Amino acid sequence: DPNAPIQIDPFRTVARELKFLTKNIRQLLGSGHPTLDTVAKYYTQSEGKYVRPMLVLLMSQATSLTPKITREKSTFGVDRPITDPEILVDQNPDAKSGFQSLTSISHDTAYSAEESDVLPSQRRLAEITELIHTASLLHDDVIDHSISRRSAPSANIEFGNKMAVLAGDFLLGRASVALARLRDPEVTELLATVIANLVEGEFMQLKNTARDESNPSWTEDTLTYYLQKTYLKSASLISKSCRAAAILGQSTPEVVEAAYAYGKNLGLAFQLVDDMLDYTISGEELGKPAGADLELGLATAPLLFAWKDNRSLGKLVGRKFANEGDVQQARQIVANSTGLEQTRALAQEYVDKAIQAISGFPDSEAKNGLIEMCTKVMKRRK
Ligand code: FPP
Ligand code: MG
Ligand code: MG
Repeated sequence: DPNAPIQIDPFRTVARELKFLTKNIRQLLGSGHPTLDTVAKYYTQSEGKYVRPMLVLLMSQATSLTPKITREKSTFGVDRPITDPEILVDQNPDAKSGFQSLTSISHDTAYSAEESDVLPSQRRLAEITELIHTASLLHDDVIDHSISRRSAPSANIEFGNKMAVLAGDFLLGRASVALARLRDPEVTELLATVIANLVEGEFMQLKNTARDESNPSWTEDTLTYYLQKTYLKSASLISKSCRAAAILGQSTPEVVEAAYAYGKNLGLAFQLVDDMLDYTISGEELGKPAGADLELGLATAPLLFAWKDNRSLGKLVGRKFANEGDVQQARQIVANSTGLEQTRALAQEYVDKAIQAISGFPDSEAKNGLIEMCTKVMKRRK
């Protein structure tokens, strides 16, 4: 139909960048120890969704068109932008010392030679966010006793808990090297905070409510606690990496705050939808176990909303659905409640806030891409 509106694909330009991402990540993860090399690269074999790198790349492009600070030193005294190509090259002293190091990072990290509105440092940031995310998945699958991830056996099943945990630590080590090489203390501080936040969120999740009680009652704090946990475990990485992308592009403080607000709201929506899918989608479609949260004793948004109207759930929450029949009973109560609808509605509110946050950005394909990401998060089934 020649009269149909021209469909521009906001992901087209990012897709070109993404081609290099997996290759570069695999280079960042090379080890002279063949087993470690294999375990560390295991989750790079299966196609992830690349949500976080995609957001960093789109945010980098979208903010390249916004006002810039000129040669202004940041609060940390960094000259921006950092253009020195050395930032991408590993300088492990072991390589020169004659000591046979296992841990050198390959130097020929490849990037598109084409003109691009994404800085090398921003591309590297995209890789770092995926490394941190993958490290958290390696640890998460051990903690959750998970058996599958991305439609394949999870790393803990394939290699055992010890190697899965150590590989996660190795990824964090390599992410830290790459981060330090960006030579931007503000960005380093942001991403280091993310790693701490991930652990804090996971610790909050060990308890369903702020106070440890066998029969907790529903209060307004119930949802606040859940949302804070959700921010720490999921939205912190997305919000702070969007913020870091804007900082590396020497955006103005207003743009940096907008990027951060977009990531925070999208990240909260992303996890709310994740917690909804755990109730509504089959494990086969998800590529990972479904209905896992109740089995793990976790009370997420759909159940918390159901609990508000079915106060008898408190006892089950308190004992983490551990008694015979608890999981089935809780599932039934959630199914007969408006918990899933309310979860979706709350996710939609956050997505609307995310779009609102970047409404002042000049129109561009990348901005459309950031808006489209919000739609994708709401529509996703895996
Ligand atoms: C997936 O959640 C897991 C996370 C979002 C973060 C997990 C964080 C840790 C294990 C702390 C350690 C962190 C690092 C950086 C090593 P989920 O279990 O709800 O989702 P799933 O269904 O995909 O497993
Ligand atoms: Mg899990
Ligand atoms: Mg988990």
